[in-house]
Amino acid sequence: MAELTPKDRIIFALDVQGTDEAARLAGLLKDSVGVFKIGLELFVSAGPQVVSAVRDAGGAKIFLDLKFHDIPATIAGALRSAAALKADFATVHCEGGRSLSEAAKEAASAGVNVLGVTVLTSLTPQDLIDSGIDPEYKNPLDLVLHRALLARMTGFAGVVCSGFEAKAVREKFPDDFLIITPGIRLESDSQDDQARVSTPYEAISNGADYIVVGRPIRNAPDPVKAAQAIASDVERALKDLSNRPKPL
Ligand code: C5P
Repeated sequence: MAELTPKDRIIFALDVQGTDEAARLAGLLKDSVGVFKIGLELFVSAGPQVVSAVRDAGGAKIFLDLKFHDIPATIAGALRSAAALKADFATVHCEGGRSLSEAAKEAASAGVNVLGVTVLTSLTPQDLIDSGIDPEYKNPLDLVLHRALLARMTGFAGVVCSGFEAKAVREKFPDDFLIITPGIRLESDSQDDQARVSTPYEAISNGADYIVVGRPIRNAPDPVKAAQAIASDVERALKDLSNRPKPL
């Protein structure tokens, strides 16, 4: 992967309604983050044209985070549509499994990095049990590793997982497998509805390539300043990583 600067590694979650507000935030943050994430709230409220509006205003990469979960033919069609919108990243739930490998291959050749959603960072062990997951996998880390392996075998470009799980996933897949980490908070931030949070420093030190940040930037009195503080924390982690002794 080409060298990414600290700011390039920040994916800003545009969890707002309507094209105007999304384009305003993209314009405001265009020099402070590297990727704009369009999720369900924005896509459903504003429609597909919001993708080009955000790209025009923000001039950065686009992460279409619609977390597809359906039969392979439908996912293949949805990924084709994501490619037509020139999305750089798109998300698919890992549970779809290896039957999605043809769709993943086609998306990759169209330039879309397909990322597998492992276990949402808002879920607790009790939520996993309540949803019917085998108690053997009630620890999110075990389930994340299982699903990351599945994602790799399916041919996905990487996975989305929490900052703590990033370490174990990176140990298993040292190269060539993207790790995207949401649930990011600086120590002074509110946790909101996230259950497995980490700081930018922790996530990057643990092997994440990109971090997803929404409310800590969006709700800050000065969003640009908040993004810069996060970039500094990323920079510190990258520096410490480059000073770590290499294994013999
Ligand atoms: O920073 P904040 O908590 O506001 O970020 C929330 C964003 O992270 C949302 O867009 C949500 O979809 C996304 N996300 C997440 N957990 C995942 C994947 C994405 O919270 N596993």
